[in-house]
Amino acid sequence: MEKLLSSWSSTVKSLPESYVFPVDARPGDMTVPFCDTIPVVDLENALACDRHDAVQQILRACQDYGLFQVINHGVDNDLLHDTMSVVQEFFDMPNEDKATVYSEDPSRKCRLYTSTYDYENEKVHLWRDNLRHHCCPIDDFIHLWPQKPTKYRDVVREYSLQVGKLSARILDLICEGLGLGPGFFGDELTGVELFSANHYPPCPNPSLALGLPKHCDANLITFLLQDEIYGLQVYRNGEWLGVQPIHNAFVVILGHQAQVPSLHINWAGIGSMHVISNGKLISPEHRAITNSTNHRTSIVYSINPKPESIIEPAKVLINESNHALYRAFQFKEFLKSYEVKKDYNEGALEDYKIRV
Ligand code: OGA
Ligand code: NI
Repeated sequence: MEKLLSSWSSTVKSLPESYVFPVDARPGDMTVPFCDTIPVVDLENALACDRHDAVQQILRACQDYGLFQVINHGVDNDLLHDTMSVVQEFFDMPNEDKATVYSEDPSRKCRLYTSTYDYENEKVHLWRDNLRHHCCPIDDFIHLWPQKPTKYRDVVREYSLQVGKLSARILDLICEGLGLGPGFFGDELTGVELFSANHYPPCPNPSLALGLPKHCDANLITFLLQDEIYGLQVYRNGEWLGVQPIHNAFVVILGHQAQVPSLHINWAGIGSMHVISNGKLISPEHRAITNSTNHRTSIVYSINPKPESIIEPAKVLINESNHALYRAFQFKEFLKSYEVKKDYNEGALEDYKIRV
């Protein structure tokens, strides 16, 4: 418990040495401007006007950025507010209330911890605390979730159900764009849903530390809800771009398992959406910076393949002129190499590439 940032960060005036990143990984320029070309998809409007157009908008966003924001997505705005509030209340609780879910055992299906799954062996600690738990099927896991704040379970249950439904809608639109046929992303590729709340307290020296270093998400797709405090950046064409917080929007980020071989080959961002799309879609590198004045909270809803699932380029995308870029592998095999490589991105898919 004493390792949690929320236990001690407000009492220090300077950044402890163990949180100082190597020079080339530091945030550097803290005045990165918001990127105004990251697509914002109005789901309701787009679908009401022209489904084909909505599909193309999302497909282009996934090819160009691997990331987009979605508004009018059908998840109740009051629920977004209540979920953000209950998570912030959770992190604000005294230590004795948080102790019931604190654990240093990464195999726990619900736990509060700090930095990464491997605090003891990591070279630099991350400036974040994280509450993470499984969600699907809810009845198998809800008894493990925090009991305090008292509303936590009810609110987060409803949130999980609604964001789970939104993910199915967005994945259907991506399927359509790729020509994969409805229901391609079935239970095997989406069966593990994780709720992960990041809490970034004010940091004494944001130019030396990171909430999360440059990484690609290891999953299929991520739905990120952020509060009004800026901190998310995406790496594109060699530069960092700021992702503007938009009230009631989700930032949708494609994960390692989604990509197909592409028009925009950018091997830096490889993930399962990257593999399944055979490189066509990008899994973007992104990171979270900190700031010296405000707490920041982000809630990541992560859709993952089941551990035993086979990840491979979709067969309909492979032909004479589009050879498979990756061999088939089990998702759990990938997760192991993702953790071992620890650089979270370039190296993670190396072992699965087919070389010609
Ligand atoms: C993540 C992530 C970014 C943020 O949790 O994988 O990229 O803004 N979070 O918290
Ligand atoms: Ni991420």
